[in-house]
Amino acid sequence: MSIEQAKEWLAQAESVAVLIGAGVSAESGIPTFRDSGGLWRNFRPEDLATPQAFHRDPTLVWEWYEWRRNLVRNCRPNPAHEALAVLDAGKPRFLLITQNVDRLEERAGAKRIARLHGSIWDVRCTACSHSDIIYGPFEELPPRCGCGGILRPGVVWFGEALPRQQWDAAYRAATTAELFLVAGTSAVVYPAAGLVAAARDSGARVIEVNLEATGHTLAAHVALRGPAGVIFRELAA
Ligand code: OAD
Repeated sequence: MSIEQAKEWLAQAESVAVLIGAGVSAESGIPTFRDSGGLWRNFRPEDLATPQAFHRDPTLVWEWYEWRRNLVRNCRPNPAHEALAVLDAGKPRFLLITQNVDRLEERAGAKRIARLHGSIWDVRCTACSHSDIIYGPFEELPPRCGCGGILRPGVVWFGEALPRQQWDAAYRAATTAELFLVAGTSAVVYPAAGLVAAARDSGARVIEVNLEATGHTLAAHVALRGPAGVIFRELAA
């Protein structure tokens, strides 16, 4: 099955859901998690991305998040993000389901987004639950709320539940879409990874975009190999 088939299906579909992961932001210069050079090759998630790690050492966790925030602040959306924004504008029913926390989808112009893992720019007070979006660098770590409580990153850590509304919207979109695209994700983190099988079982045509085969490849009707920026640009052309 070829990219021509995928283009035809995409052109025909009125309802499209897209699940993306770190590979879609890779061409913007943001490291993935599990590829060579990926974040989890150099850092241990249990030291940095769990509620227990934050409780143990909030400054260490914040130093890592502040490093990532500084990195992402200097990155720009790439052609994959731009093609997804074009799809969003052109399809009557569309949802971009992202596991990424960089908000580059939004900066490219996408509007209908379900953020399963939160955002690196969001913060929430561990004392009073006040939440905010803070884009600039912090003067001191860990940053504090007006009430004096420690702020935490507004992301989903290992062992935490996904945001309910975002998940419900993602599941609804996956199980009602005519076409389901899955791009730049390794298919190992659940429940997000389960959306691919749910979409296929509900009758969607499934197209995978990735540099290599993943656990999603068998569920895909078409598997397109290559950088997401190149393939999405071609798909959306
Ligand atoms: P991974 O690092 O696990 O997987 C990235 C995938 O993108 C791999 O399958 C790569 O082959 C592919 N890839 C890399 N560069 C690409 C490119 N230019 N074009 C297309 N594909 C490319 O990242 P995720 O699957 O997003 O969770 O990881 C899922 C979750 O695990 C993350 O959201 C994060 C992490 O722990 C939390 O932090 C809760």
